[in-house]
Amino acid sequence: MTFDDLEDIILLINKHYGYDFSGYSRASLLRRINRYMEVSKLESIFSLKFELINNPEKFNEFINEIVVNVSEFFRDPSFYKSLRTKVFPYLESYPKINIWSAGCSFGEETYSLAILLKELNLLHKSRLYATDISDNAISKSKKGIYSNKDFKEYSNNYFSSGGKESLNEYFVSDGKKSMINSELKKDILFTKHNLVADGVFKECQLILCRNVLIYFNEELQNKVINLFYDSLPIHGFLALGNKESLRFSTVFDKFKEIDKEQKIFQKIK
Ligand SMILES: C[S@@+](CC[C@H](N)C(=O)[O-])C[C@H]1O[C@@H](n2cnc3c(N)ncnc32)[C@H](O)[C@@H]1O
Repeated sequence: MTFDDLEDIILLINKHYGYDFSGYSRASLLRRINRYMEVSKLESIFSLKFELINNPEKFNEFINEIVVNVSEFFRDPSFYKSLRTKVFPYLESYPKINIWSAGCSFGEETYSLAILLKELNLLHKSRLYATDISDNAISKSKKGIYSNKDFKEYSNNYFSSGGKESLNEYFVSDGKKSMINSELKKDILFTKHNLVADGVFKECQLILCRNVLIYFNEELQNKVINLFYDSLPIHGFLALGNKESLRFSTVFDKFKEIDKEQKIFQKIK
């Protein structure tokens, strides 16, 4: 598939389904669509277009494939350490803490947060909202079941982030798969939300959006950061993680930097 074909596909998706991928970086989209065509044995751009137009079910499958759902428990441990030491002590005095994890993938980030909140004795007064564009991501997140093969790494991440227990304590395992404890699930609402097209989500004291903006061009990054700005109360935190920045945003000066490395900001005006 060529870059011109890609532009055709982007237009087609928008026209038929209202999903706007025009602000996504092209190289990553092209790679993912080529991979989708290979796996689905679609040999030409014509058959891809035909499937997308005539088969809404295939279209859903397609969306799930072209967004990148890669995640981990306690991914970038220093990020969680920073939340533990610089953000939650500040939010501790609030009677209720609302948190939005945007682009939550399969739930690893959201459940890591729930574990952290439990350890800080804040879970009982917290409500977590976790959103993603992908149906598949939301339904997997809700189940909260993960393969055991990556748990060693997750456990290392957890300890490096400042965790003191055993990560396994938060899961029920059958030897192959582990399911997150229901106690950690009960204050989480997983729901579909498209950062490109949907509006302000909810007023939250903390918004996390990591490893999502990297797939967007500067204009779209600015649009989404403005959406976060509008969703935050004054003194609310925006946590972008070490790969992102506020560089392309028009609201840069309305935030104070809390952690330079982990790109955690507080709304000050
Ligand atoms: C690489 S994952 C990041 C997961 C997690 N935040 C982390 O850092 O480990 C990116 C996620 O963003 C989601 N995503 C991509 N475009 C989106 C959009 N327009 N609205 C909401 N979520 C989106 C993808 O479905 C995917 O689950």
